[in-house]
Amino acid sequence: MTTSPQTATAVACANIAFIKYWGQSDSGLTLPTNGSISMNLDGCLTETTVRCDPELERDQVWLALHGGEEMPASGRPYERVMAQINRLRALAGSSMPVEIRSRNNFPSDAGIASSAAAFAALTRAAVAAFQLEVNERELSRLTRLSGSGSACRSIPSGFVEWYNDGTDQGSYAEQIAPSSHWALVDIVAVVNTQAKHVSSTHGHDLAPTSAYFPARLSEVPARLIEVRRAISACDLERLGLAAEADAMSMHVVAMTAKPPTMYWQPATLSVIQAVQRWRAQDNLQSYWTIDAGPNVHVICEAKDAPEVEARLCELSAVQWTIANGPGHEARLVG
Ligand code: DP6
Repeated sequence: MTTSPQTATAVACANIAFIKYWGQSDSGLTLPTNGSISMNLDGCLTETTVRCDPELERDQVWLALHGGEEMPASGRPYERVMAQINRLRALAGSSMPVEIRSRNNFPSDAGIASSAAAFAALTRAAVAAFQLEVNERELSRLTRLSGSGSACRSIPSGFVEWYNDGTDQGSYAEQIAPSSHWALVDIVAVVNTQAKHVSSTHGHDLAPTSAYFPARLSEVPARLIEVRRAISACDLERLGLAAEADAMSMHVVAMTAKPPTMYWQPATLSVIQAVQRWRAQDNLQSYWTIDAGPNVHVICEAKDAPEVEARLCELSAVQWTIANGPGHEARLVG
């Protein structure tokens, strides 16, 4: 246990799931009902500095969201950050107050996995500041416990699978292919930057109230195999069709939960239809997926990315785009 001041800064990427985490078997331990597979996004980043210092009067959390001004965090964001800090501080046997400063470069709470990048960067930096010795698997497990389960997939680099055997020790994420394996691009078509009206946390709770939830779960194991094979073979059509089917099934569960949640907006549907049209009419290979929000992630190969991005920008539904290649692991930068 250290009592001298320590500072660490980490950068982590958001990630996009091709097979979604939707529903939990244990909300206290953030255990998912099914395994999931994602790619880190190299253009959607959070940088977080954790300073432990016995001279600090109290814990402080400062957030600068989407490149904006730094503000003190309060309410639920503050509580979520401090719950993770308290867990790690206890593990380190420390009682030092902390100052946390975090900034991201993309919209928060709008289906671009902002909390995944945030909790991966926070956990990476805090583990270093508290001088905890952990390997990547343990770091991913500790990140999962933050409550933002998908954040555990932002710890390894590139293409990542979150394994799920229903136990705390067996629920962590691991790389299945490095970022250099495939020049895949995820273009986020931003149609709305307002925070979603139903959080993912609440969405996970509601999932079992949908009659379609068991049907979704019965399909996921075969889709996980399909996506693993597609990534291994760099087969975009195979990956894209499985990712679209999985996103559709997640949103059917959300839309048929009690009460129902509709994350899509008219602009969301117009992007989906444009992607389908480009594929059918022009053989432009791109596929869509959507997290818990209205924005659409369009997946294509790097060679087609300029054309896909230009076409997305021409749609009146799209405000702007963020193009991402496969991103790096959550890493220390200071
Ligand atoms: C739809 O509980 O990880 O993005 O805490 O809001 O980041 P946040 O969400 P989390 O649920 C993520 C749900 C999802 C699908 C996915 O990323 O697998």
